[in-house]
Amino acid sequence: MNTIHYAVVGTGYFGAGLARLMNQLEGARVVAVYDPMHAEPIAKELQCDAEKDIESLCSRKDVHAVIVASPNGFHKEPVMRAAAHGKHVFCEKPIALSYDDCNEMIAATKEKGLIFMAGHVMNFMNGVRTVKRLINEGRIGDILFCHAERNGWEEAQSEVSWKKKRELSGGHLYHHIHELDFIQFLMGPAKRVCMAGGNVAHQGAGFGDEEDMLFITLEFEHNRYATLQYGSAFRWSDHFVKIQGSKGAILIDLQDVKVVLKTPEGEERFLLHESKEEDEDRTRIYKGLETDGAIMYGKPNLAPPLWLHSIMKKEMMYFNSIMQGAEPDQEFKPLLDGTAARASIATADALTLSLKEDRKVSVDEITRKKAVSS
Ligand SMILES: NC(=O)c1ccc[n+]([C@@H]2O[C@H](COP(=O)([O-])OP(=O)(O)OC[C@H]3O[C@@H](n4cnc5c(N)ncnc54)[C@H](O)[C@@H]3O)[C@@H](O)[C@H]2O)c1
Repeated sequence: MNTIHYAVVGTGYFGAGLARLMNQLEGARVVAVYDPMHAEPIAKELQCDAEKDIESLCSRKDVHAVIVASPNGFHKEPVMRAAAHGKHVFCEKPIALSYDDCNEMIAATKEKGLIFMAGHVMNFMNGVRTVKRLINEGRIGDILFCHAERNGWEEAQSEVSWKKKRELSGGHLYHHIHELDFIQFLMGPAKRVCMAGGNVAHQGAGFGDEEDMLFITLEFEHNRYATLQYGSAFRWSDHFVKIQGSKGAILIDLQDVKVVLKTPEGEERFLLHESKEEDEDRTRIYKGLETDGAIMYGKPNLAPPLWLHSIMKKEMMYFNSIMQGAEPDQEFKPLLDGTAARASIATADALTLSLKEDRKVSVDEITRKKAVSS
């Protein structure tokens, strides 16, 4: 097996975690990192170089692929520079904060025939794969409607994280693109969308400028619908996706962790994560005070919880296997060229426009505008 050399941009909570995991895999080695604040200790720990800037990192001859885990608003530059130097890319979600940026990033990587994998880690949950299998087996019939909630409550912070600043995170919808991406994976791209919401309880010192309640409606072809809620102004927290089919329904509960298939014959339960221990650990974390509005505030030296560590590892193993030349699964092809991630951002942009202009928006308005001008 060849050893693939990786460079990591952004070694905060998640980037450091991905770098550690990747470095432990057979056939993978992290050779350099860049982070304006946290590079040195991680470089020391991984025995690799700390580069002075993104350009020097991406231009290294010994780097085959760049892992991007900087704040959301700072993904584009490293992806464009990596592509310019012919490096494959793994980019954390959301890959960008606008459809136009996604297009530029996709064009730059595609032009050079590079992998551009999006960090949509939900795809690597055991239970999500089970759900896709159950749906493919016809157990719930046709999908008629999906509903997702990712809600919690957040207190004021002594130092406001970039995750609370719209310009850097995109707000709850972009930052937590997972549920929207998953629903579009199941139902195809949304056609017309609508979003209401605002900042109802998180203004002033200690808070950012994002909306803390978002209420979303998605309309699909053939009279199919989905609704989603996101936010940090919900004292009663919830985190789940419900899939309503013509013959049955499925609940993916990411808080009281479980997957449940409900049909007229009865109920069947499945694990969401790899083991009962992982599911119970996640449930315990949500029940306790270790979570704050479903946003993970971490530090480079904070180890991710068991369940997250496990899916991050699967994700890095998958990326490394692709880098080693493995044939991608059919369902993951759009995950490996940025197009699935772009479809989520197109819908998020249409929702943002809907909120701004107080009207229903066709996702076409976002995607066609680009098609005409490019
Ligand atoms: N897939 C998931 O479930 C998941 C979970 C958490 C975070 N993430 C994603 O990972 C990324 C990082 O999040 P995090 O939780 O590690 O945040 P973090 O704040 O812990 O880390 C971000 C790091 O980026 C560094 N940084 C700041 N500006 C930079 C720049 N211009 N270039 C390079 N690095 C820069 C910071 O110094 C910090 O060390 C985000 O895109 C986030 O959405 C994904």
